Amino acid sequence: MTAEKRNTYKAQKRTDYKAPNFTATDIDLTFTLDDTKTIVKNVTRFKRLTSDAKAPLILNGEELKLNYLKVDGINYKFKETKNGVEIPSVPDEFTVELENEINPSANSSLMGLYKSNGTFCTQCEPEGFRRITYSLDRSDVLAKYRVTIIGPEYGCGVLLSNGNLIERGTKKNRPYAIWEDPFPKPSYLFALVAGTFDIVSDTFITMSGRKVDLELYVDRGAYERGLWAMQSIKDSMKWDEDRWGLEFDLDNFKVVAVDFFNFGAMENKGLNVFNSVYVMVDPTCATDTAFYNVQSVIGHEYFHNYTGDRVTLRDWFQLSLKESLTVFRDQEFSSDVANRALTRLHAINVIRGPQFAEDASPMAHPVRPEEVMEMNNFYTVTIYDKGAEIIRMIHTLIGESRFKKALNDYLHKYDGQAVTIEDFLCCFEESAGVDLSQFRRWYTQAGTPHVKASWIYDEENKNLVLKLSQHTNPTRDQQVKEPFYMPIRMSFLDKEGHDVHPAELSSDGYIILNENEQEYRFTLDRDTLPVILRDFSAPVKLDAPYTMEQLQHMLSFCDDAFIKVDCATTMQNRYIHDNLEIAAAQSVLKEPAELIASYKAILDSVDSQSDLILINETLKIQSIANLMETFDKINIDAIKYAHDALETKVAVSLVNEFVELYGKIRASSANYSVADMGRRAINNSALHMIAVAKCAMDKKKEASDIVLNHYNSSKNMTDKLQAMTDAVHLDLECKTEILKSFEKDWSKDALVFDNFFRVQATVPNKSAIDNVKKLLSHPSYDGRNPNRVRALAGALALSNPVALNDISGEGYDLLCKQISALNDINPSVAARILTPLLSFRRLDEKRQGMILNNLNSLMQMPKLSRSIYEKVSTALKE
Ligand code: BES
Ligand code: ZN
Repeated sequence: MTAEKRNTYKAQKRTDYKAPNFTATDIDLTFTLDDTKTIVKNVTRFKRLTSDAKAPLILNGEELKLNYLKVDGINYKFKETKNGVEIPSVPDEFTVELENEINPSANSSLMGLYKSNGTFCTQCEPEGFRRITYSLDRSDVLAKYRVTIIGPEYGCGVLLSNGNLIERGTKKNRPYAIWEDPFPKPSYLFALVAGTFDIVSDTFITMSGRKVDLELYVDRGAYERGLWAMQSIKDSMKWDEDRWGLEFDLDNFKVVAVDFFNFGAMENKGLNVFNSVYVMVDPTCATDTAFYNVQSVIGHEYFHNYTGDRVTLRDWFQLSLKESLTVFRDQEFSSDVANRALTRLHAINVIRGPQFAEDASPMAHPVRPEEVMEMNNFYTVTIYDKGAEIIRMIHTLIGESRFKKALNDYLHKYDGQAVTIEDFLCCFEESAGVDLSQFRRWYTQAGTPHVKASWIYDEENKNLVLKLSQHTNPTRDQQVKEPFYMPIRMSFLDKEGHDVHPAELSSDGYIILNENEQEYRFTLDRDTLPVILRDFSAPVKLDAPYTMEQLQHMLSFCDDAFIKVDCATTMQNRYIHDNLEIAAAQSVLKEPAELIASYKAILDSVDSQSDLILINETLKIQSIANLMETFDKINIDAIKYAHDALETKVAVSLVNEFVELYGKIRASSANYSVADMGRRAINNSALHMIAVAKCAMDKKKEASDIVLNHYNSSKNMTDKLQAMTDAVHLDLECKTEILKSFEKDWSKDALVFDNFFRVQATVPNKSAIDNVKKLLSHPSYDGRNPNRVRALAGALALSNPVALNDISGEGYDLLCKQISALNDINPSVAARILTPLLSFRRLDEKRQGMILNNLNSLMQMPKLSRSIYEKVSTALKE
């Protein structure tokens, strides 16, 4: 047998969907918890749906030990297969009673029931329930659950499952609890948690006056760190009522924070389980970004209660149905309660960085994929974030009030059902009175559309004539792309910087591009400037022939946050692209004069009244990762050289301005608030630019002093982390002292200490590789803790393109070694950090060869997981 044959898995096709032959109506589970031998008793009522009376009942089950199985109380003939059991000749309605055993301690994949730092917890989405007990583990089988949990012999603080507590007490010296969830749900929304926690309790009175008990379970001793998450739960509940009229539907809502978790968080009905990184914050241990993220992730999972739980998915190809809609909802939540511009700019950065990269990679897939081998590989930026842009475009096209009505009609029509993206679109078409037939291509065609703009002035008719064209490159799965239907938000600026609104432009300010090429006429004065793609109204690459002066003009006068930031970004991109050859030869680059002039104007006018969040985003030098996405073929060394030259030149030219800014803008307290987040953000950016400038000016000692002082004088983690990052990334003298001090203060605090690993893994040069090697044997390194893995190998892979792609090839070797170790421990985490290697064909030949060698040896591995197999084999096929 060849190695290739040994590792073969088959893809499933969306169009092969078949309705289930049976459904489960009631599931009664009893867990007798034990670290290594948990007994699950499962009594499920089944009903035949198919007219085929001979169809056997096939239950999913993985890595389970089956003790017995009875049908209607009688020991029955059944066949154990690799993926479950098959029970032939069953009646139309019947009860299966069975008992199986599992070993939570040995479960390092963190799918199913596992132990996380002493706590029993579950993760079932997408297909983890089959690792707990035998079931119809598919999202279109909805059942009512009754769950009895008997605590482990050594005792246990709380025993939790979905829904309402029916009974609790002690039997034979063991605590037990019985839970019932009144809402039928698919198995992926099942959850169980057992452990000892601090509990933050509160209540929420809903819009109809019902009282909901809220409980947040955190590590013992960490009560205070749960308070912001609790506030965020209440804010989410209120916002969903205010903006969409959606009221919580259970009498209690529970959130549990666990330390070992594959993802960010999970929306199990009434019992959300969170990675502790998205719960546990206080200003001394967490950054402003962490506070902001806790609020948005709490919101996200809470909002799934309707978009995902009440109306769920027919099959996993429909994942975008719940995720895109819920990301759109969490973005709107963050926009309304935190900051709209910041939220939008973050979302746009995800699209223009990782999502464009995915669209250009062998794993490019439509938002509704056609073929899937391992579902875990499809929780992607395409399905989540491009999907959310699609929902946002629908919102743009039909407007807030029709969107709200359509969403409510959809939730009402399909309440308690498992549906498809097509059902959603039809419902929106009918409710809002729109035709989305061409628009549907956003769901079926992979790849990023390129939009090209040009304009001329027609003197005779006093018309500005705008031409737009679109083109989408072929992807592996589709050679020919049909034109997309996209709303392009527009405005016009006159020479003085005033907005002018031509009669031809609709009042909501967008035009439709839905052909390969289109022409639009606007009655305007000469020299009026079209502002195209305001608010990034469609997820495309725009190529518009603005001059540097026009970009400066828009940057000064346009009132759209995205356009402002994009003008600065475009000026940066132009500079990098124009200088790439010089950078490749490592010669001296010219000055980015226009960018510096614009930045000087901005810096000169900053005061405490300014929109600091927006200004800070405008002043940011783009990440190397996002810069890479502006090139088809990637010359990483030249991009890095040009990026650093650009940053240094801006920093040196404006060092006085940054020094003044640094002294002028300070947060009013060490606590989190949106206003202080803005102040700290710009103050920290100033610190960074000062340090960069001083290093370039041969004043490294001064850079070190100011950074060390910043570290020591602040009580806030945002500041400390900025100082530590600058000290380590710029290799300042204070580096050792800061790292030591950070280690002393935080090494016992896993979440905070992850930063110690991440900062050293993201040094933007080869030394990061040595750092990672060294830190792999740090006493606090734990290869079974996904947060740690993501902070070290994950950071190198996903946040350090320079070190990963170092010409020595050591970055690739190191990453692949970690991936093969993780293949057996946790394939889902392993497959995620593999992602950047898939795009090897965009690099030079030498790097391509080195990555190919590594990918080929991964393919040879015995017991290669399905997730890695799918990604690597897809990349090698291209
Ligand atoms: N349903 C997902 C959790 C999930 C992710 C399950 C991957 C199975 C595989 C949850 O709603 C989610 O989307 N979580 C995100 C965070 C969110 C704020 C986008 C996550 O875990 O990354
Ligand atoms: Zn989600």
